[in-house]
Amino acid sequence: MPIKPVRKAVLPVAGLGTRVLPATKVTPKEMLTVFDRPAIHYVVDEARAAGIEHFVFVTGRNKAAIEDYFDSAYELEATLEAKGKTALLNQLKADLPAAGACSFVRQQAPLGLGHAVWCARDIVGDEPFAVLLPDMIMRAQTPCLAAMTKAYGKIGGNIISVEEVPMSEVSSYGIVDPGARKGELIEMKGMVEKPPVDKAPSNLMISGRYILQPEIFDALAEQTPGAGGEIQLTDAMLRLMDTSPFHALPFKGETFDTGSKTGYLRAFAAHALADPEHGAEVRQILEALLKS
Ligand code: UTP
Repeated sequence: MPIKPVRKAVLPVAGLGTRVLPATKVTPKEMLTVFDRPAIHYVVDEARAAGIEHFVFVTGRNKAAIEDYFDSAYELEATLEAKGKTALLNQLKADLPAAGACSFVRQQAPLGLGHAVWCARDIVGDEPFAVLLPDMIMRAQTPCLAAMTKAYGKIGGNIISVEEVPMSEVSSYGIVDPGARKGELIEMKGMVEKPPVDKAPSNLMISGRYILQPEIFDALAEQTPGAGGEIQLTDAMLRLMDTSPFHALPFKGETFDTGSKTGYLRAFAAHALADPEHGAEVRQILEALLKS
């Protein structure tokens, strides 16, 4: 059977972001600024770099800012034009997804990541799709999803990005039970959401990027709540493994979890330091702060 290309990406943004309250009381955590742009901007750029043509945002209450961010801002553009700020204007236009390339669907209650993905079923339809968790920014020479779509193009099925974490942290993540190594990929024998350290099958965490076959929606439709009382994507993937192959692709790059206060700080500092125009000054500011 020919391998169908991955054209659509689901970005679940309906979570409450309780770990970064009060910042997220009225501002979606995905819209928190990481140096000069919201976290979600980096993730949409990563999806575009992998050839994604359609973005499905699973939103909830208080998330309207995300919809506005990916729309054109007429007054702002007219003002920039009138003031001759052409470079800024062109950048804003280049960042805008094509007309009709974004869909927004509501998850009426934050019942879990699995439930959020299931809410996208009608828009995704019967084709493979990517899921990108927008609070995880992945920085790499080859963007994470692009590396995954390349591997997927050779083998098909389901591909999950993984990376090693210290064993003491496994109970915070979805963890993979690894099988045989196949070139850059690892066959998957199983996976478990937030296992206790002594029950973890490895220290390979599922790092927030997935390529999934549409059959996952049937598994999600029947999925009962798991860890934390939430409908977990990991549990549904585990059931899909009986009929559809899963491979893990170790991510070669750096991951920034903007969903926690210190993770957010790390993401902000790293992106500020890497900025070609301001990086040197940022370094001076940080060094001075550390000395004071
Ligand atoms: P997280 O568990 O990191 O997000 O989910 P959260 O629930 O917002 O975080 P805390 O624990 O309260 O701080 C990973 C991604 O899945 C989305 C979140 O928006 C986040 O981008 N998500 C999670 C949903 O869309 N719906 C849900 O029911 C749960």
